[in-house]
Amino acid sequence: MSATEKLYEGKAKILYTTQDPDVLLSHFKDDATAFNAQKRGTIVGKGEINCTIGTALFKLLSSKGIPTHFIEQTSPTDMRVRRVQILPLEVVIRNIAAGSLCKQTGIPQGTILKHPLVEFFYKKDELNDPLLTRDRLLLLELATPEQLERLRTMALQINEILCQFFRECHITLVDFKLEFGIDADGNLILADEISPDTCRLWDAEETDPKARVLDKDRFRQDLGSVENAYQQVLQRVQSLLNT
Ligand code: TMP
Ligand code: ASP
Repeated sequence: MSATEKLYEGKAKILYTTQDPDVLLSHFKDDATAFNAQKRGTIVGKGEINCTIGTALFKLLSSKGIPTHFIEQTSPTDMRVRRVQILPLEVVIRNIAAGSLCKQTGIPQGTILKHPLVEFFYKKDELNDPLLTRDRLLLLELATPEQLERLRTMALQINEILCQFFRECHITLVDFKLEFGIDADGNLILADEISPDTCRLWDAEETDPKARVLDKDRFRQDLGSVENAYQQVLQRVQSLLNT
């Protein structure tokens, strides 16, 4: 099934319609942005790496009973996905303090959280994706109370599965962002992508705070060796899956 027309172009992916109205083609780009696209660049080979890592992780999650939009990888940079209506929410799960959590609360970076923290951000570029309270989320009718509970439950289940998987890759899953959609039958399903663009991944065998970073923070913070870090994650994921 080939791509037909461009439906939507985001910062890291392009969505195309296909001949099947319930199926879209998601094309992963090498483009990288940060800070609401104020910083732009290219990470050579990223599209291929993220599509391949995403495929592995969606398959893993599906095998554990998590409903996802993933159907199949059709080329190194493309996957077929079920068409869903994306909720305008970024669901962030944190195991270790980093990024905006440290900036907004003063918790020192690297602090291990007693329990995973689930946070909801409003996916709205014009507003810079603000952190939402539960009441604001309900006020804005971004999800129903039932959907909110289900999102929290699924986010925590996904966190457990991914933490264990990455641990086996000798990678610490610090935090990550998920997006969910609603399918034609009204079910909440995991959508978008899971990749070094959307996760903080630290090399579990490295203690140096810069050297251990294997994710997009290398691009955000100009740490260098961005492609290398993404390759490292891909290699570890693939070698674990081949054992
Ligand atoms: P934060 O600490 O900046 O709030 O980011 C939390 C996690 O969400 C981190 O793993 C990076 C990811 N993330 C995205 O995937 N997209 C975004 O636009 C932002 C701001 C963060
Ligand atoms: N989504 C952010 C951007 O708009 C990128 C990030 O920090 O992950 O550019």
